[in-house]
Amino acid sequence: MTMRIAVAISGRGSNLEALLHALRPGAPATIALVVSDRAGAMGLDHARTRGIPAHVLANASDAAGWLDLLQQHGVDLLVLAGYLKLVPAPVIAAYRGRIINTHPSLLPAFGGKGMYGERVHRAVLASGALETGVTVHLVDEAYDRGPVLAQIRVPVLADDTVEQLAARVLEIEHRLLPAAVLAAAAAGKPVPFELGVATPCHER
Ligand code: GRF
Repeated sequence: MTMRIAVAISGRGSNLEALLHALRPGAPATIALVVSDRAGAMGLDHARTRGIPAHVLANASDAAGWLDLLQQHGVDLLVLAGYLKLVPAPVIAAYRGRIINTHPSLLPAFGGKGMYGERVHRAVLASGALETGVTVHLVDEAYDRGPVLAQIRVPVLADDTVEQLAARVLEIEHRLLPAAVLAAAAAGKPVPFELGVATPCHER
């Protein structure tokens, strides 16, 4: 059975594009729906141009609205790819263990409410950390807290700007998130996995 994925976005959608690239026809997973809390989210166009249902949530905290949508499209796995709002608790409960998120740091460091996009990289640079990374984790009722499925470390260079660091991390996100989805499709649910230079969670 092909795993049916919903991807939630709030902005540019480059991770969505990486998923669309990885999940070509014949792949063990397919993107059945794209959801956004913002009508102006650029990533919605990536879906529309490919004929994938793209839906703007009237109210992102309305659990019934979410559940109707996910059930209408027969969604097995919800992927948060630059989605900035908390998913309502009844949706988390209904899809427990079947919602994953990508975050541009080595969680639990530089995560939590308000820590997204450039803010994360600015905080990393300000801290003097020599490395940062990418985390894919299961989603629970709090921002960036759920069990880690995989992490990749990314070096911070002495003369890095926020933009340079963000670009280096994003490149890795575009590899790790599709790998997480393919591992979930192979296992029937999200599982810890390794990707080349990935540091599997159980080795830490
Ligand atoms: C990504 O770095 C993601 O980890 C973070 O927001 C960014 C979204 O980028 N939550 P994009 O919209 O996928 O390009």
